Amino acid sequence: MPIVMPSSLSLSSLILISVLLLFHAGRVRCTPSDDNTPSSPPLVSSTNSSSKHRHRWVGPIGYRVITVDVNGTGQFRSVQAAVDAVPDNNRMNVVINISAGCYVEKVVVPATKSYITFQGAGRDVTVIEWHDRASDPGPNGQQLRTYRTASVTVFANYFSARNISFKNTAPAPMPGMEGWQAAAFRISGDKAYFSGCGFYGAQDTLCDDAGRHYFKDCYIEGSIDFIFGNGRSMYKDCVMHSIATKFGSIAAHKRKYVDEKTGFAFVGCQVTGTGPLYVGRALGQYSRIVYAYTYFDDIVTQEGWDDWNHVDKKNKTVFFGVYKCRGPGAAAARGVSFARELDFESAHPFLVKSFVNGRHWIAPSDA
Ligand SMILES: *[C@@H]1O[C@H](CO)[C@@H](O)[C@H](O)[C@H]1NC(C)=O
Ligand SMILES: *[C@@H]1O[C@H](CO)[C@@H](O)[C@H](O)[C@H]1NC(C)=O
Ligand SMILES: *[C@@H]1O[C@H](CO)[C@@H](O)[C@H](O)[C@H]1NC(C)=O
Ligand SMILES: *[C@@H]1O[C@H](CO)[C@@H](O)[C@H](O)[C@H]1NC(C)=O
Ligand SMILES: *[C@@H]1O[C@H](CO)[C@@H](O)[C@H](O)[C@H]1NC(C)=O
Repeated sequence: MPIVMPSSLSLSSLILISVLLLFHAGRVRCTPSDDNTPSSPPLVSSTNSSSKHRHRWVGPIGYRVITVDVNGTGQFRSVQAAVDAVPDNNRMNVVINISAGCYVEKVVVPATKSYITFQGAGRDVTVIEWHDRASDPGPNGQQLRTYRTASVTVFANYFSARNISFKNTAPAPMPGMEGWQAAAFRISGDKAYFSGCGFYGAQDTLCDDAGRHYFKDCYIEGSIDFIFGNGRSMYKDCVMHSIATKFGSIAAHKRKYVDEKTGFAFVGCQVTGTGPLYVGRALGQYSRIVYAYTYFDDIVTQEGWDDWNHVDKKNKTVFFGVYKCRGPGAAAARGVSFARELDFESAHPFLVKSFVNGRHWIAPSDA
């Protein structure tokens, strides 16, 4: 979530003040391990093979691999250097093969560089990390604010990442601290695909900003609003792991208008860690969040969901739903009266990859 203004956002300030977050020792090893198993080079999930579909795929032509190794045995030592080597208006599938290691750098993939894949050697062994916080000064001397804290930011379309972790290592905020939002990753491009990735942070870990996104078998760790933004995204078979100690929240969705197609759909996921935890918060007036076939540990607050500030009557305009969830926290995830238990008909649009128009850009084997 963006910079919190405690005077106007009572719940946010309550959370800020009451939250006590432990500085978590990195679960991702930042030294290459011996058991790193090399992985085969993937193609970007979209190829021209879908041209038989009604919407003809006009996609990348050709294939190029760029190798990155922090110890200097690849073409580049840093991920940003590899991205810089991709020409603007790129039309090739470019796989940036990043070997095991800890890449301590801030990375940006500009909008002019589509079709790039970050291929790691495993999410436990290939890590990109940085440590910016919202209140840190940016290049112009002004505060960075939440969206510019991300260790890795992607503005390009058709980005994908496989078997790699992204981390913001700024210490988790202590009670009463402001400006400690610290994102690990920001995705602002359209049609982005993530598989086997890790996202590590505390407050505002994953900025799912804008565009259609698909997250498969990913691990997302954080404390407050640790998945946030106005993306139109499906999270399939992912783990959302809370490290909150006094209060936390998983998803804060920012849909502003009733005709926007954005929303977060969590399908077949697992919610673990520590609580108490809100499963969703109304960052936007028409916030839209659905959990289906998801397991909840016994860490969900009694109310389950939060309308953000009690003054905008968002409880009348949000779409918060659950469908066939399970686990000891599932009853609380149904929670307040403005969250609904969906029937199959109303749940169905959120259960299938067509929620993100996936038929046209996600290969069946990747869904
Ligand atoms: C990613 O890692 C998983 C689990 O280690 C492995 O099965 C898979 O082949 C890897 N895929 C890619 C594209 O690296
Ligand atoms: C599709 O991809 C194949 C293999 O990369 C290539 O030979 C062929 O020319 C492509 N077809 C079109 C229509 O781009
Ligand atoms: C890479 O460099 C790091 C730090 O310099 C070192 O600890 C590690 O053993 C190196 N790994 C390999 C595979 O050479
Ligand atoms: C990518 O890197 C791994 C080692 O991390 C290596 O085994 C593999 O062959 C590389 N793939 C390509 C296409 O360079
Ligand atoms: C919505 O929130 C308002 C203000 O907190 C409350 O008075 C009202 O009962 C709520 N309505 C529903 C349906 O939860």
